[in-house]
Amino acid sequence: MNGMLKRLFLISMVSLLIFSASMRVRDENLSPVTHSLTIEECSACHLAFPAAMLPAESWGRLMRQLDSHFGEDASIDDKSMIAILEYLQSNSADSSWIGNRFSRGQSGAWSTRITESDHWLREHSNLNFMKESNSEFINKTDCTACHEGAAKGDFHVHDA
Ligand code: HEC
Ligand code: HEC
Repeated sequence: MNGMLKRLFLISMVSLLIFSASMRVRDENLSPVTHSLTIEECSACHLAFPAAMLPAESWGRLMRQLDSHFGEDASIDDKSMIAILEYLQSNSADSSWIGNRFSRGQSGAWSTRITESDHWLREHSNLNFMKESNSEFINKTDCTACHEGAAKGDFHVHDA
C-alpha cells in the first residue's frame, strides 16, 4: 500500500471504531421519557418506563386497559390516553430499523410487563429477588432502587 492508501485505511478504521462505540452507548442508555404528558401521568406510581422497552403492540394493550392496570385504576381521559399511546408507540422497542437490545433479544411473545421480557430477565438472572417479607425486599418494578440514573435513561449498575 502506498502512503496515501494507508492513511485512508487508518482513517476509515478509526471512524468505524468511533461509530460502533457511539452505537453501543446509545443502545445501553435507553432514552428516558421526554414527553411531558407521559411523565406527568405515568410517573406517579413508578418510573415512567422508557418507551423502547416494550413493542407497540404491548403499549396498545396496556394503554387500552388502564382502568385495570395491574390491580390499580390508572385511567385517564381518552385524549390524554391517545396522546401518550402515540408517543409510546412511536418510540417503542420495535419502532426503529435496527431496534434495541429489548427487541433484538426477544424470542417469544411479549407481555405488557418489561420485567417479563427476555432481555430484562437475562440482565437480572443472577439477582436473587427477595421475598416480600424480607426487610430488604426490593420490588422488581422499582427500577430506581437499583438504577439511580433510571429517570435519565441510565441503567448501568456502577458497583453491582
Ligand atoms: C395509580 C398508580 C399507577 C399509575 C398512575 C400508572 N401505573 Fe403502571 N403500574 C402500577 C402498578 C401498581 C404496577 C405493577 C407493579 C408491580 O408489579 O410491582 C404497574 C406496572 C406497570 C408496567 C409493568 C412493569 C413491569 O413489571 O415491567 C408498565 C409497563 C406500566 N405500569 C406502565 C404505565 C404507564 C404507561 C402509565 C401511564 C399511562 C402507568 N403505568 C401509570 C401503577 C400505576
Ligand atoms: C434489585 C436491583 C434491580 C432492580 C430492582 C432492577 N434492576 Fe436492572 N439491573 C440490575 C443489575 C445488578 C444489573 C446489571 C446486570 C449485570 O451487569 O450483570 C441490571 C441491568 C439492567 C439493564 C441492562 C443495563 C445495560 O447497561 O444495558 C437494564 C436495561 C435494566 N437493568 C433495566 C431495569 C428496569 C427497567 C428495571 C425496573 C423495571 C430494573 N432494571 C430493575 C439491578 C436491578
